[in-house]
Amino acid sequence: MDRISKAIRTQIERTGEKEHASPLFLTSSFCFDDAEEMRAAFADENDNNIYSRFSNPNVQEFVDKMCILEGAEAGYATSSGMSAVFASFMSVLKAGDHLLCCKAIFGSTHTVITKYLPKYGIEYTYVPADKPEEWGKAIRPNTKMIFLETPTNPGLDIIDLEIAGKLSKKHGLILNVDNCFATPIAQLPIKYGADLVTHSATKWIDGQGRVLGGIVLGRKDLIKDIYLFCRSTGPALSPFNAWILSKSLDTLEVRMERHAFNAYFLADHLKGHEKISWLKYPFLDTHPQYAIAKKQMINGGGIICFELKGGLEAGRRFLDNLEMLSLTANLGDTRSIASHPASTTHAKLSEAERQEVNITPGLIRISAGLEKKEDILEDILNALNKA
Ligand SMILES: Cc1ncc(COP(=O)(O)O)c(C=O)c1O
Repeated sequence: MDRISKAIRTQIERTGEKEHASPLFLTSSFCFDDAEEMRAAFADENDNNIYSRFSNPNVQEFVDKMCILEGAEAGYATSSGMSAVFASFMSVLKAGDHLLCCKAIFGSTHTVITKYLPKYGIEYTYVPADKPEEWGKAIRPNTKMIFLETPTNPGLDIIDLEIAGKLSKKHGLILNVDNCFATPIAQLPIKYGADLVTHSATKWIDGQGRVLGGIVLGRKDLIKDIYLFCRSTGPALSPFNAWILSKSLDTLEVRMERHAFNAYFLADHLKGHEKISWLKYPFLDTHPQYAIAKKQMINGGGIICFELKGGLEAGRRFLDNLEMLSLTANLGDTRSIASHPASTTHAKLSEAERQEVNITPGLIRISAGLEKKEDILEDILNALNKA
């Protein structure tokens, strides 16, 4: 059976009520018939649920479906994408280890790597996203992991997963890929040698801007360590959010196809606009890493980004003149979203610091929603003309 069909047909075993949709197990803990059964559960001698910080049927259903979609051996779901990323670092790395990371990286991940990991004695080196063939030079005897995201947020750099996979294999490193922007519908990092795949399920996986969630998938031995770390430290996904996310997975493929279709339409119509100095979309042949995107992605995803010629002020005017698109700190929703990192999420950084993380003054990120593509385009064109 195809992985999409299999994921859709995977669900919690039906109860005596013969329900069609999965029931919701909103419970903090689970009961035992006797002391022996409880002892055996705590001794890991059976698979009984004990406590929802450890496991829960709704959370397990979401994990099972994601494992099928990503082609992963195992997974552990967390309360947000950041807790998934953090858990993947803290359970695998220890003091004295070194992490290699692509320079273009989501803001909070950048904060964890540069501010918190060093507090625990974990070193890092940033390497350029567009030159993975040079990353080998930065590998040290204590390098343990390569972490990257592709496409990157917000700049849409594409990193060659085949090169990263071969490099980590050659040096015995753990390759950890944030697959949030592509989703398993468009890209399968495990096929290229990723040992771990992290997700913010808050984005395309929920796809409707309702709940926070995250997940780490991959090698069974590594997931076991991540599970043990999370079981004690507590970033568990709530059963309610898992129930929502699990249902969302059933429509992920059809949604992502339409998001990508709309995003390509926008990119194709906006490229060359007089107010824009450059525009990027992974499946537009003008993207600097178009060939890599075509090699490793099934579609180009739902995000486009462009640079306004008028810089910071033009960015603010662009946002102010949008009538339909939402101004909100999220992406991957049914409703199209515009963001201007330089005046919002990255406003507190100096110009030099923004340059460091590739946030240019006029950078606009559009998350293409499921509205009719002509309506999204019209709103963007109107705002561009006034920017
Ligand atoms: C690429 C990427 N990774 C991780 C995260 C963090 O996810 P969350 O907001 O669910 O913690 C985000 C959020 O935008 C993201 O874009």
